[in-house]
Amino acid sequence: MKLSTTDLIQRAADDILRAKHTVALTGAGISTESGIPDFRGPDGIWTKNPELEQKAYEAYNDFRVDPQKWWIDQLDGPVNILDEWGKARPNLGHLALTELEKVKQLQRVLTQNIDNLHQKAGSKNVIDYHGNIFKLRCLNCNSRFPAEKFDAKQLQQMGQLPPRCGSCGDPLKPDVVYFGEPIPSDVSSESEQEAYKCDLMLVCGTSAVVYPFASLPILASGKQRSSLESFLNFGLQPNTPAIVVEINNEPTPLTQEGISDYLIQGKTGEILPQIVAAVQSRI
Ligand code: APR
Repeated sequence: MKLSTTDLIQRAADDILRAKHTVALTGAGISTESGIPDFRGPDGIWTKNPELEQKAYEAYNDFRVDPQKWWIDQLDGPVNILDEWGKARPNLGHLALTELEKVKQLQRVLTQNIDNLHQKAGSKNVIDYHGNIFKLRCLNCNSRFPAEKFDAKQLQQMGQLPPRCGSCGDPLKPDVVYFGEPIPSDVSSESEQEAYKCDLMLVCGTSAVVYPFASLPILASGKQRSSLESFLNFGLQPNTPAIVVEINNEPTPLTQEGISDYLIQGKTGEILPQIVAAVQSRI
């Protein structure tokens, strides 16, 4: 018998209250209600501008080849993403996860989003898996610096681009993981540990098609682990399989391949607050 959305929300609240270590994985879908478009949804950036997606596949190599030219192109380019996304406010979906953390029913947020909205909502335990637009990172020593420390326009006028790493002197790039760029080792090892450690994983607002992030629910679920050999970097020993719950507008490969135990179909900004209310009514 197909459970109603209300029943599934109650079931998720039960699972949260029973769990010892819950992690939430989030994607662009949780930020669409903050006015930041996703990538592959009906109104997604890539869906609407396939040529932009093509260009995104060149960014990492372009930076490696000529970081100075790369920065000049960014600064002279049409959109300054920092200004655009800097104005965005967290929505009820982000705030619901912050509330779950506050009442100690959520131990970690692993996000693919670079928009810093979980931190803006007040979440403390966030891993920025694909980086954070408010930081710059050194590809050589992996040091990270607040982007506001560098006035790139001024460096351009003084002919001193690219900005340089204060630790090793190498060129800095935005702390954004581009296609083809490896996930920084500190981030991937911590994330893999969380996937193994958790007994409940909430997967919110992601199409679950981009790897290696999409491997984390599979690791946690204990299903199809053999297919993930190439992604397992740290030889960690898996613990008991976790319950995987999806909250998304539409089914994903996790739903279709039976990795998730159930999908609550709907907007994260509407479903997550209801789950938190159900949890709070029982603690
Ligand atoms: N509530 C629930 N689901 C939503 C909402 C919402 N308010 N808005 C959109 N969605 C769903 C979309 O239907 C889609 O299934 O969220 C999913 C977003 O998927 P993608 O656009 O593929 O975003 P994401 O999974 O985060 O992409 C992964 O790909 O382009 C790269 O680096 C980029 O981090 C990104 C990665």
